[in-house]
Amino acid sequence: MTLNLVPGVEALVDEMTAWRRDIHAHPETAYEETRTAALVADKLASFGLEVHTGLAKTGVVGVLKNGDGPAIGLRADMDALFIDEKTGLDYASTHPGKMHACGHDGHTAMLLGAAKHLSDERNFKGTVVFVFQPAEEGEGGAKVMVEEGLFDKFPVDAVYGLHNWPGMDIGTFAVKAGPIMAAYDSFEARITGHGAHGGMPHLGVDPVVAAAHVIGAWQSIVSRTINPQDAAVISVTQLEAGDAFNVIPDTVLLKGAVRSFTSEVRDHVWKRMAELAEGICQGFGAEFELSLHRSYPATSNSDTEAGLAAMAAADVVGHHNVDHHPTPSMGAEDFAYMLNARPGCYVWMGNGPGEGGCLLHNPHYDFNDRALGVGASYWVRLVESLLPV
Ligand code: NI
Repeated sequence: MTLNLVPGVEALVDEMTAWRRDIHAHPETAYEETRTAALVADKLASFGLEVHTGLAKTGVVGVLKNGDGPAIGLRADMDALFIDEKTGLDYASTHPGKMHACGHDGHTAMLLGAAKHLSDERNFKGTVVFVFQPAEEGEGGAKVMVEEGLFDKFPVDAVYGLHNWPGMDIGTFAVKAGPIMAAYDSFEARITGHGAHGGMPHLGVDPVVAAAHVIGAWQSIVSRTINPQDAAVISVTQLEAGDAFNVIPDTVLLKGAVRSFTSEVRDHVWKRMAELAEGICQGFGAEFELSLHRSYPATSNSDTEAGLAAMAAADVVGHHNVDHHPTPSMGAEDFAYMLNARPGCYVWMGNGPGEGGCLLHNPHYDFNDRALGVGASYWVRLVESLLPV
């Protein structure tokens, strides 16, 4: 495979590798990315960027302006996961129980490399806003940054994100318009019946039997009421009831998650879950309560920006190494909040084969340093094409 890395970026690969491994050795989780944020802010300042800290607590924004022109945002996430690292690498986590198992160390290093190169070369006209966000993993740092005025303080016409993807070869990208990652919501439901002696069920209202019917009925929502071309998943993942062999309990607690790709499907699933469960429980003489926790929306790319991102990726890796029809992932991503606020595109970049358990969120995972030059080159080519001189 011939990669067409930006020459100046290629010269930064060793430096990016050192940054990446330093960040890897010092993983920090949601809103506690103080060391990482300080490292990012220091580097950006040393490259000559205007630096802003404190947005969403530990977020860092670097602004690079070169004449008048459009403004675009480039985003990297900085946070790690609560995982005990098992890689045995010499730069493995020095923070027990925490680990960069999603490659955000690599994302941060690549965007820093691109910032350095773009500041040195200034081969663009306009403004680049480099967004280093905290708390991507479940805590919605992107949402908080947007709520705290990210795009009011730093107006951009479009915003772009990137995630490494194990299982895709180094030097490949996947880009598509429309949904690429799912919306994720969790729920907690309580079915209240009336406890009784296990041998005398007629004297009570058994919430366990009602729960069994509810769980079964919920599985008909996707298969019977959603267009087969649309995707959704309803998973009941926790079931809590009773504590004796011979006692029918008063209540059953059901917990789980729902994933979907559009707001129509998302709303429909919630509505049907409540309607079915209420009807079934009423029939059994039990009561039903549902509490929803709406989490990340679907990550959905806008058409024009997806096309532009695909072209920038093809510039680096060649057209035949850009997959324009990837199957969307049922995983979720908080860059969705930025894409809800501005048009833009989120791409996947190959991290090499996911062999040996080297998949995202795995204790054996490590970001592939061979991808650093590819990702940083993509950022540079994207800026040069969107903000032409
Ligand atoms: Ni991630």
